[in-house]
Amino acid sequence: MGKSRAINIGMTEQQRADIAGGLSKLLADSYTLYLMTHNFHWNVTGPMFNTLHLMFMGQYTEQWNALDLIAERIRALGFPAPGTYGEFAELASIKEVRGQPKALEMVEHLVAAQEATARTARGLFDLVDEANDQPTADLLTQRLDVHEKTAWMLRSLLEE
Ligand SMILES: [Fe+2]
Repeated sequence: MGKSRAINIGMTEQQRADIAGGLSKLLADSYTLYLMTHNFHWNVTGPMFNTLHLMFMGQYTEQWNALDLIAERIRALGFPAPGTYGEFAELASIKEVRGQPKALEMVEHLVAAQEATARTARGLFDLVDEANDQPTADLLTQRLDVHEKTAWMLRSLLEE
C-alpha cells in the first residue's frame, strides 16, 4: 500500500476531520431519508396514490444525486466516506420507519426526516465558517434550500 501524500489546502487536519465527521452524519441522514422516500414511493396506497407516488419519485431522485456530492466532499477533505447500512444506522439522527404507514402518516414521517436532515446540515455551519471551507458551505446551503422547501411542500399536504 502506498503512503498517501499530505494534504495542504489551507485547513488544519483537525478542521478537515471535524467537517468530514459532520458531513458523514449528513450523508447518513440523507441516505436514510432517500431510502424512506423510495420505500414510500413503492408502498403508498389510497386516494392520493398518484400524487404521492410521483412526488416521492421526484424527491428520492434529487436525494440520490445529492448523496454523491456529500460523499465526494468528504473524500476531497481527505477522509473515507461511510458507505454501509451499519455505519449509516450508527451515524443517522433519523430512525427507520417499520411497517406500512398510511399515506398521510408517510407524509408526516417525511416532514420530520426532511427537518432532521436540515438541522444536521445547519449544525455544521459554525465549523465550516471557522475553517473558511466555502465549498462545503455551498453544498450545505444547497441542501438546506432543498430540505426546507421539500418540508414546506410536504407540510402543506397535511393542512385542511
Ligand atoms: Fe418507481
